[in-house]
Amino acid sequence: MHILAIESSCDDTSASVIANDHILSNVTATQEVHKEYGGVIPELASRVHQQNIVPVIDKALKDAGIQKKEIDAVAFTQGPGLLGSLLVGCSFAKALALSLDIPLITVNHMEAHIMAHFIEDPKPEYPFLCLTVSGGHTQIVKVSSPRQMDVLGTTRDDAAGEAFDKIGKYLGLSYPAGPIIDELAQKGNSVFTFSKPKIEGLGFSFSGLKTSVLYFLKAEIKKDPDFIQKNLQDICASVQSTIIEILIDKVEKACTQEGIKQIAVAGGVSANSGLRARLKLKADEHNWSLYIPRLEYCTDNAAMIAMAAHYKYLAGDFAPQTVKPMPRLGINAEVL
Ligand code: KG4
Ligand code: ZN
Repeated sequence: MHILAIESSCDDTSASVIANDHILSNVTATQEVHKEYGGVIPELASRVHQQNIVPVIDKALKDAGIQKKEIDAVAFTQGPGLLGSLLVGCSFAKALALSLDIPLITVNHMEAHIMAHFIEDPKPEYPFLCLTVSGGHTQIVKVSSPRQMDVLGTTRDDAAGEAFDKIGKYLGLSYPAGPIIDELAQKGNSVFTFSKPKIEGLGFSFSGLKTSVLYFLKAEIKKDPDFIQKNLQDICASVQSTIIEILIDKVEKACTQEGIKQIAVAGGVSANSGLRARLKLKADEHNWSLYIPRLEYCTDNAAMIAMAAHYKYLAGDFAPQTVKPMPRLGINAEVL
């Protein structure tokens, strides 16, 4: 049984083939066009998806060693994401399903980030908590089964990755700034303190931190116009450490609240070396089993869409040809 899965929610065009629960291929074309703008430009993203989608799918089929006629179902990301980008994957998947007369499967991008943990061993045991940290989302989800996920906390404003990227922009770094801040932070010390949000429960907020960094920089630049250049590594270390503290504080709270010690981390920000190191320390301290997928499966990829689709295929959960992309699709039981 082969499923072809397509991911096109933001700025990566990706295709993957899964045979039962085994990933045969995962091909991703990353869009470079946004670098000079300091963020993803939706209109440009959808145009580049259109250019990339056929060669990416071709390569995914070739890498998997199968032909089009061997595909048993086609899956695509329905949301959340950018409407124009989602439309490209959705339209292509519908056309392919229609022409091959095979079932169509819709996948929720955020649920797929979580299902990425089932691609390789070791896999978490249910129930587990997943911290999903990407450029678009910051969530703590209680995962009881592939079809029962409950969002325990989410961000009120910016996502963690967005905070890295926006603060990076103030520092004159190119987009996406997360990996650059990570690298610079490793050479610096966390000597500056920024205010942390006081959000009740398991919610997150990062826009206050962004503003506090901006005011801090403005004040320091008034005293010394070269402040950023002279202190870049220490500023990065301080910002990164504040973001990590905010995230880890809520993960610890969620563990205590739910009495769960299986902790999974997903999304592009889980590549952050500081976050990984601090989570490992906390795991030792609290006796957590910690799961972080390989980087290729942490950032946006179609293999995670394929894995989520595999479970929907088993449940016979197929979509009609009238299905539409949903840019604001949320995780919850009723959309599953
Ligand atoms: O999951 P992802 O690839 O795409 C989205 O769905 O958003 O995540 C991209 C985000 C960007 O904000 C990027 O700056 C951040 O992940 N990121 C990092 C690192 N690598 C990627 N943030 C901090 N440290 C990193 N090493
Ligand atoms: Zn994502």
